[in-house]
Amino acid sequence: MFATRFERFGPPEVLSVGELPEPHAGPGEVRIRVRAAGVSPVDLAIRAGKSRSPIALPHIPGVDAAGVVDEAGPGAEVGDEVFGAVDVARLGGATAEFAVLAFWTPKPPSMPWEQAGAAASGIETATRALDLLDVRDGTTLLVDGASGGVGSLVVGLALARGARVLGTGGDLEFVESLGAIPVPYGPGLPTRVDGRVDAALDVAGQGSLPELVELTGEPSSVVTLADFSGPSHGVRVSTGALGGEPDGRHGLAAAARLFEEGRFRVPVEAVFTDAAAAHAAAERGPRRGKLVVRVSE
Ligand SMILES: NC(=O)c1ccc[n+]([C@@H]2O[C@H](COP(=O)([O-])OP(=O)(O)OC[C@H]3O[C@@H](n4cnc5c(N)ncnc54)[C@H](OP(=O)(O)O)[C@@H]3O)[C@@H](O)[C@H]2O)c1
Repeated sequence: MFATRFERFGPPEVLSVGELPEPHAGPGEVRIRVRAAGVSPVDLAIRAGKSRSPIALPHIPGVDAAGVVDEAGPGAEVGDEVFGAVDVARLGGATAEFAVLAFWTPKPPSMPWEQAGAAASGIETATRALDLLDVRDGTTLLVDGASGGVGSLVVGLALARGARVLGTGGDLEFVESLGAIPVPYGPGLPTRVDGRVDAALDVAGQGSLPELVELTGEPSSVVTLADFSGPSHGVRVSTGALGGEPDGRHGLAAAARLFEEGRFRVPVEAVFTDAAAAHAAAERGPRRGKLVVRVSE
């Protein structure tokens, strides 16, 4: 099969298209013919050789993908259109002709491939964090890092739960367009926020935890996805399957339903055909949602 892969760690230029053996679905998995794949910070870290997990070379980047099932699995027949993510232990494989998904849900027919391909791990993560913080109708949630790939999904899913959402980001117009109350990021956050904040999610990992605890009044009302100093502030670090906590995979089907009801979308900043260009763009910032690679038409 064709795949975008790298044979040594390094900058985006190490990515190139070549031939690799096809993967096959194991028990509980499906294989898809990939239409679109997302680009995430974990993909950049792995390519740069900064992953904490051992990575075998050559490596195909990409955790999130959408496509058409060609090896069936539980609840998915050949020909079904699905979106999902690869197994966290494989840490990649989506920017290729075929990819094996560890979890997935049917793609709503009207959902563009680009949105579906970029969605799954971000929705899983967002759902997990919102569940941990017990975000529900009437909760006021502050999302630090709301303009990025995960943060923008958190905002959309929190609004769909009926929460009032404040969001920080570099591009405040974009944050407002998501439906959040925009707040500039950086030190001094409590001086820029009016009123009560019930819960705060740190998506950015830029050292805001003491201020988020000050804003909510309770370390247990703060969760971080990206700051491993969390426990020293009494704050939970949520890492999903790697941390052995309940996962947010049930969020995929819920998000698909919300999409069909017109209450949720996956904000896509840009679509690329060249994965190296997508990785280079992801490293530049600022973010306005997800970056996507269109793998096939
Ligand atoms: N624990 C988990 O399960 C899990 C899962 C997925 C991702 N993550 C991690 O979560 C982080 C975010 O992922 P992502 O995909 O959303 O990344 P992303 O798309 O690159 O977005 C990063 C966000 O952080 C914002 N930001 C940058 N500097 C900031 C600051 N000083 N204060 C507040 N916000 C700031 C960015 O805004 P501008 O672009 O406007 O500067 C952007 O909105 C990454 O570290 C990723 O590895 C963790």
